[in-house]
Amino acid sequence: VVLVRARTEADLDECEELARVVHERDGYPVFLPGDVRAFLSTRAAIAAFVAELSGRVVGHVALHSGAPGGVVAIASRATGLGPAELGVVARLLVSPESRGRGVGRSLLKAAATHAVSRGLRPMLDVHSTLERAVGLYESCGWVRVGAVTVHFRAGSIDEFVYVAPQGLYPQAP
Ligand SMILES: CC(C)(COP(=O)(O)OP(=O)(O)OC[C@H]1O[C@@H](n2cnc3c(N)ncnc32)[C@H](O)[C@@H]1OP(=O)(O)O)[C@@H](O)C(=O)NCCC(=O)NCCS
Repeated sequence: VVLVRARTEADLDECEELARVVHERDGYPVFLPGDVRAFLSTRAAIAAFVAELSGRVVGHVALHSGAPGGVVAIASRATGLGPAELGVVARLLVSPESRGRGVGRSLLKAAATHAVSRGLRPMLDVHSTLERAVGLYESCGWVRVGAVTVHFRAGSIDEFVYVAPQGLYPQAP
């Protein structure tokens, strides 16, 4: 059974290793910075969660208060909500050997539910070539609201922008 819990300082080594493995295998993140820890814990981070299977960290997700390159503006236009009312699900990673068992879905739910608990509408951006991730978001009921090319110092990435419809992740009673 997968356990999703808040990420702690003690998880960061395992999470860094996970980011390296997923980068090599899937090309996400497209540009892995030298400082992987800073990539996992940016200043925009509101919260982060890990998934555990048999005591091992097999997945990671974060919730951010913003995102680079105009993706928030797209979600803002689509929802009529201000940027401060949106929570960006980011840094979703599942270990290759633990895929297809609902770990990604559980992590997505944890981050999105946390956003809703803070009064934020969950949104996210995803590289258009990451088919598993796109499949996950669509099978969970997220809606694609736009596409954009985001420019980083290291190069450009074509992305889709998704929003969770209101009520998809209900507020806890
Ligand atoms: C995307 C990712 C997080 C999915 O993790 P996962 O634990 O395998 O996902 P789940 O098992 O929860 O799958 C949930 C749903 O996603 C969809 N999905 C999963 N794998 C898929 C695939 N190969 N093709 C299409 N859809 C897929 C399915 O609809 C699946 O539901 P189902 O099992 O009921 O059919 C994982 O593949 C990953 O880490 N990929 C590389 C990093 C990445 O792309 N991160 C996202 C960056 S925005």
